Amino acid sequence: MGQIGVTELGYIGIGVQDAGAWERFAGDILGMEWADDGEGDRSYLRMDYWHHRIVMHHDGSDDLLYSGYRVAGPDEFEAMQRQLSDLGIDYRLGTSEEAHERRVLAVLKLRDPGGVPVEIFHGPEVDGARPYRPGRGMHGRFSTGAGGLGHIVIRDNGPDASYQFYTRALGMRGSVEARIPLPNGAIQQPTFLHCNERDHSVAFGAGPMRRRIHHLMVEVDSQDDVGLAYDLVRKAEVPLLMTLGKHANDDMLSFYVQTPSGWFLEYGSGGRKANQQSEYCTRDSWGHELVGMPLLFDL
Ligand SMILES: [Fe+2]
Repeated sequence: MGQIGVTELGYIGIGVQDAGAWERFAGDILGMEWADDGEGDRSYLRMDYWHHRIVMHHDGSDDLLYSGYRVAGPDEFEAMQRQLSDLGIDYRLGTSEEAHERRVLAVLKLRDPGGVPVEIFHGPEVDGARPYRPGRGMHGRFSTGAGGLGHIVIRDNGPDASYQFYTRALGMRGSVEARIPLPNGAIQQPTFLHCNERDHSVAFGAGPMRRRIHHLMVEVDSQDDVGLAYDLVRKAEVPLLMTLGKHANDDMLSFYVQTPSGWFLEYGSGGRKANQQSEYCTRDSWGHELVGMPLLFDL
């Protein structure tokens, strides 16, 4: 095999302080399905037939605990281990208990250069007998499928090291997609990487961050669900980071809201397919006005 690439951001694990607030936020506003397997220290958020897309660990950390990237199958999983070894990247093969804990057939555990725990897995549990049951009425459904869970914008310890890791080790592609002049004269230029048709599954490189995650983006297939969520956010007076707007790089119609953990969630629809050649923008198409809280960084 040539270079092995991950095929999607399949799941993430987050640490939460207030699981009840997360249940209401994710269910009543975003439309996700809350689930519990009786494990006591965690609960789950579903978005499709997968056992889960988000694991909520009740550990009080209010941060990203791990990001799970999928490879196609057992051969790719083995080849990925050789690829990581050849690049001198430390990883650990998860035990069968650890794989079961994630509801996957096999899992590798490692860290990216920014200190974000990364898991590479194959074979998620998908339950066709358990149709997705949204936490609120939905006009459509979450756009997961080949594009995976969505995207995350994460902390880095120098964008070059993260670029090398996600492109050489995980097989992603992409580049800087924006060069935004800041009020202090600096130019913010985040990098966006894709591994499937979604414009980006991971982005980094725009500034210092206290947490490992700046935001998670989830996409729905109906703009009416974006509008409904926007109305529900404003009615419940959940703090917004950015008003409704359209991104110039991935065409996403979205808004940004603060999660109960303090980091942000982008809720969007209408994203275009990933560019196969690099290009950049210097501003958004419209909207996305920053409101109400300090900018860590974003696009
Ligand atoms: Fe985003």
